[in-house]
Amino acid sequence: MVREWDPRTASSAEIASLLDTLNAVLAADLPQDPPWRESSLREYLAEVMPGERRISWIAQAEPAVNGTPGKVLGQVHVLLLGDIGVLEVLVHPSARRSGLGRDLVRTAARRVYQEGFQSIGVEVVGDTPSVAFYEALGFAKEYVETRSVLDLTTVDWAELGQMAGGVGAGYHLEFHPGGPPDELIEAYARAKAEVRDIDDGELRPSSYDPQRLRDSLDCLHRRGMKPYIVLAQHEQTGEVAGLTEVVVPAQHPTRADQYDTIVVQDHRGYGIDRAIKARMLMELRSAEPQLAEVQTWNAQANEAMLKVNAELGYRPDREWCEYSVDVAELVHRLDAAR
Ligand SMILES: CC(C)(COP(=O)(O)OP(=O)(O)OC[C@H]1O[C@@H](n2cnc3c(N)ncnc32)[C@H](O)[C@@H]1OP(=O)(O)O)[C@@H](O)C(=O)NCCC(=O)NCCS
Repeated sequence: MVREWDPRTASSAEIASLLDTLNAVLAADLPQDPPWRESSLREYLAEVMPGERRISWIAQAEPAVNGTPGKVLGQVHVLLLGDIGVLEVLVHPSARRSGLGRDLVRTAARRVYQEGFQSIGVEVVGDTPSVAFYEALGFAKEYVETRSVLDLTTVDWAELGQMAGGVGAGYHLEFHPGGPPDELIEAYARAKAEVRDIDDGELRPSSYDPQRLRDSLDCLHRRGMKPYIVLAQHEQTGEVAGLTEVVVPAQHPTRADQYDTIVVQDHRGYGIDRAIKARMLMELRSAEPQLAEVQTWNAQANEAMLKVNAELGYRPDREWCEYSVDVAELVHRLDAAR
């Protein structure tokens, strides 16, 4: 049975059952990834940025004879942002290949269509059943990134210390747990705006004006995700010349996620990229002692970033692709296949 589901009002048993399914999916498809914890999972599923909406459905097994609710076997949610619906689907490995995934996509796609959106995007992890699934449903590959993972036990901390100090004269680095300080928000947003116009195909626009930046930091905090920032300030102008952002999620606090790393065009060639990333790792080592790994996603064409990541010890893990489909065509195809 598929039904619309609101994580804000869901029972604790449903949240726990969804977590079991998510961890069974990870064990089957991404066995090297750490299992998720329940910490702030409800908030992670419920909270969105202003102007965005997330609509969710779950598929539950039949209740037991004594009335105990059935397990959550699958879940779909769609995040409505801009002119696109971003889809996420999970089916418990024990319930796969019986059409449940297709039913969940059909349910979400119909709603996205009714809401007037034109296209649906989805992140598809390479070397998992999702690839064949979305291709069978008519989604087309738009964009490929490589995920890389850094195992912190392999890091040479002395060498990293040298990298962190290797920034050109006229710049200094600052570490800001929680986000940039208020007095730097505008300069920080300006640095992010520089890459705004680059159409890198990512589903989620990065934050480029001060208000959007504040909203996005608030949203991260509400979802139980702790942001850390290292920035390079150009001493002469006070401008933010470079920045790097890492988020430690309460749901998997042993593996952090690298977000944006930006070096503003005029400040390239001074070692800022390497230095801010190295400094970040050193700071995280003391701020988050449980941290074991950091994961990052890069466009395959971004050779400069891949080179720095390799020097820091990141190892390429697998492809991470974005697929999309026209909503009307998808609904038509899925209805015709019934
Ligand atoms: C992708 C996923 C949703 C598919 O769910 P499902 O219920 O097994 O899918 P369906 O039974 O509806 O399959 C529909 C069609 O997709 C294709 N398909 C699905 N899984 C496939 C597989 N493993 N191999 C080949 N084709 C597959 C088939 O064409 C299938 O139709 P068929 O069974 O009639 O041949 C499920 O495997 C899943 O949850 N994967 C994990 C998703 C994820 O996000 N993982 C990574 C981060 S945790």
